[in-house]
Amino acid sequence: MSRQTQAIIHADAIIQNFKVLAALAPHSQSMAVIKADAYGHGAVNVARMLKHVSPRFAVAIIEEAIALRHAGITAPIIVLEGAHQRKECEMAAAHNCILVTHNEQQLSWIKACAVAERPQVWLKVDSGMHRLGFSIDDVEDILHKYKHAGVLNDNSVLVTHLACADDNENPFTERQIERFMQLAKRTHLGVSVANSPATIQWPESRGCWNRLGVAVYGGFRETSLSLAPAMTLRSSIIALRQVPKGESVGYGQTWTAQQNSKIATVGIGYADGYPRHCPNGTPVAVNGQPASLAGRVSMDMITIDVTHLPNVAIGDSVELWGENVSIGEVAEAAGTIDYELMTRVSARVPRIVKYK
Ligand SMILES: Cc1ncc(COP(=O)(O)O)c(C=O)c1O
Repeated sequence: MSRQTQAIIHADAIIQNFKVLAALAPHSQSMAVIKADAYGHGAVNVARMLKHVSPRFAVAIIEEAIALRHAGITAPIIVLEGAHQRKECEMAAAHNCILVTHNEQQLSWIKACAVAERPQVWLKVDSGMHRLGFSIDDVEDILHKYKHAGVLNDNSVLVTHLACADDNENPFTERQIERFMQLAKRTHLGVSVANSPATIQWPESRGCWNRLGVAVYGGFRETSLSLAPAMTLRSSIIALRQVPKGESVGYGQTWTAQQNSKIATVGIGYADGYPRHCPNGTPVAVNGQPASLAGRVSMDMITIDVTHLPNVAIGDSVELWGENVSIGEVAEAAGTIDYELMTRVSARVPRIVKYK
């Protein structure tokens, strides 16, 4: 029998989460962000699941968009980083993709395309995050210049990204939204501001197009909304042993038995995307029962303490995150965020899509 390490992708959770989030903003439209293989959940699968509820999709780079086209996804796709090379502009037009442009070089590439081969263009504005986009003070000149050149038009959308939307007490978000919305009002263009945390907790950021990522997958759950985890990462016990009090387990002897202990070895490791930084005590669930990591994470295996569980056996199911173990809790234990855990589940782990 093959290794029982799988990421179960819960299609109903993804569809329901998207609907719950989109319903928060009934006066605007929402699209699912499916970059980075839909945060590790499988972009083609997720696009198919959300076909009837997400009228557009967002990815980071054109290669992601073209892979979706090859799989038969037809909805318009927003490419959040725009073109990295000139030839991507024609590719975007040919594949019905919208390029979010953030510098003049990208706009000049589009201007150099034959008129019939120009993609639709949205404009990225730096409202304070200082990562990508035109400075607020330059936007009106850019609009004037590139509308005149036939690159931008009245359907172009102004896009910005919020630096601190996940922190509902940080006044910086209000400042970013206010500066950006003042600009948008002057230009009379549609806006796209809100990511998941902003859609949930900064209503004034909801605009013409909200960009919903992590919460569609059940992340960002410190909210009263009922969002379900979309991925269960699971494996199984491949070995069991008694470890006498005082003996240690794993590389570097980082865990020592404080009593005579029962240790289960589980067939998943950092090569599968389980974070090597998870410390002793990180929660897992064995047949739905709480247990915890004991010893360092290896490339292909972890070891867990199951001393308190009387009936465990080789082959028993171990959940690393999902319904019983919160991915946020594991991320915190590893010193990172759920986004990183989701996107790092490696290609070695089969994704199994399940409907209820
Ligand atoms: C530009 C942009 N928009 C939207 C998103 C989606 O954000 P979230 O996953 O927080 O919903 C991201 C995610 O990284 C992004 O970079």
